[in-house]
Amino acid sequence: MKSNVFSRKYGKLSRSVVGFRNCHIFILARKKSRRKSHLYARENYDTINPMMSNWKEVWDKKDRVQKYILECMVKSDGFDSLGTFQVQNWSDYCETLYSKVGVREGVSVFEAGCGSGAFLYPLFLKGNTVGGLDYCEQLVNMAGSFMPGFHFLCADAEELDTDKKFDVVVSHSLFHYFQDYDKARTVLEKMIFKSNKVIGVFDVCDEEMKAEYHKERIENFVKEGFTEAQYWEKYQNLDHLFYSRSFFESVANEFGLHLEFSPQTDPNYGNSRLRYNVTFRKSA
Ligand SMILES: C[S@@+](CC[C@H](N)C(=O)[O-])C[C@H]1O[C@@H](n2cnc3c(N)ncnc32)[C@H](O)[C@@H]1O
Repeated sequence: MKSNVFSRKYGKLSRSVVGFRNCHIFILARKKSRRKSHLYARENYDTINPMMSNWKEVWDKKDRVQKYILECMVKSDGFDSLGTFQVQNWSDYCETLYSKVGVREGVSVFEAGCGSGAFLYPLFLKGNTVGGLDYCEQLVNMAGSFMPGFHFLCADAEELDTDKKFDVVVSHSLFHYFQDYDKARTVLEKMIFKSNKVIGVFDVCDEEMKAEYHKERIENFVKEGFTEAQYWEKYQNLDHLFYSRSFFESVANEFGLHLEFSPQTDPNYGNSRLRYNVTFRKSA
C-alpha cells in the first residue's frame, strides 16, 4: 500500500529523471562524437584533401607580408607618385647606396629623417642594427612598429643626439627639406659626430640642375592646362633646397674627412638626373 502511494506520488518524477538522464547521456554521446570528428578532421587535415594542404604554408610565407610592409613604407615616405621609385626595385636601389657607405653584415646604421623606415627596412630584415629619427610622429611610429627592438625617435634632425654612436649614419632624401644652409650644416655636423666610420647624404638636390628642375615641372604643369603663375602659387613655400658640391667640400675640409660624390643612377626614379649622393669617410 505504502509502495503504491509512493510509486503513484513519485512515479512521474522518477520517469522524468530517467528521461532526463537518458537525454543527457544522448547529448554527451553526440558531443563526444562531434569532438571526435573534429579531432579526426584536424589530425587528418593533410590527408583528407590534398588540394587544401598548402594553405598554412602560404599564410606563413615570410616575405609575403614583408613585401606589403615595404610597399606601405615606400609610399608613406612620399615615393608614391609617377616617376618616383618602383617598390619592386627599392631593395636593389637601397643595396646600391648601402655599398657606397660600406654596409655589410654586423654594421650598425642610423638614419636622420628616416620617415617610416623604408630605407632601413631591408637592413633590418638582414639582421643589422638600425635606428632613426624623424620629425613626423606618424611615420616614426610606423618605423618603431615594423622594426621592433630598435630605437626610433620623433624629433627635428637638428636635435640629433650624438652620444650613442653608429658605424654608419645616413640620410636619404632629407636635405632638400631644410630651410637654409645653416640648418643643413648643423645636421651634417651632428651626423659626423654620431658616426664611427662613414656618413652618407643621399638623394641631394643638385644646385646645377635647379633651373632645369623648375623648367621641367612648369612645362608639365602647363601641359595639364595651368599657367606658370599658378605653378609658382601652388608651390609657394614648398620649394626644395639645392646644394652645390662646394657646400659638402667645405665640411669635409673642416673635419678632415675623405669625400666622394656619386650620381643617382636608378633608371626608374625620375629625379635621378637632378640629384647626387655624398659620402664622407673618417680616416681609420
Ligand atoms: C622623402 S621622405 C624620406 C624618408 C626616408 N628617408 C626614406 O628614404 O624613405 C623625407 C623625410 O624627411 C623628414 N624630415 C624633413 N625635414 C625634417 C627635419 N627637419 N627633421 C626631421 N625629419 C625631417 C620627413 O618627415 C620625411 O619623413
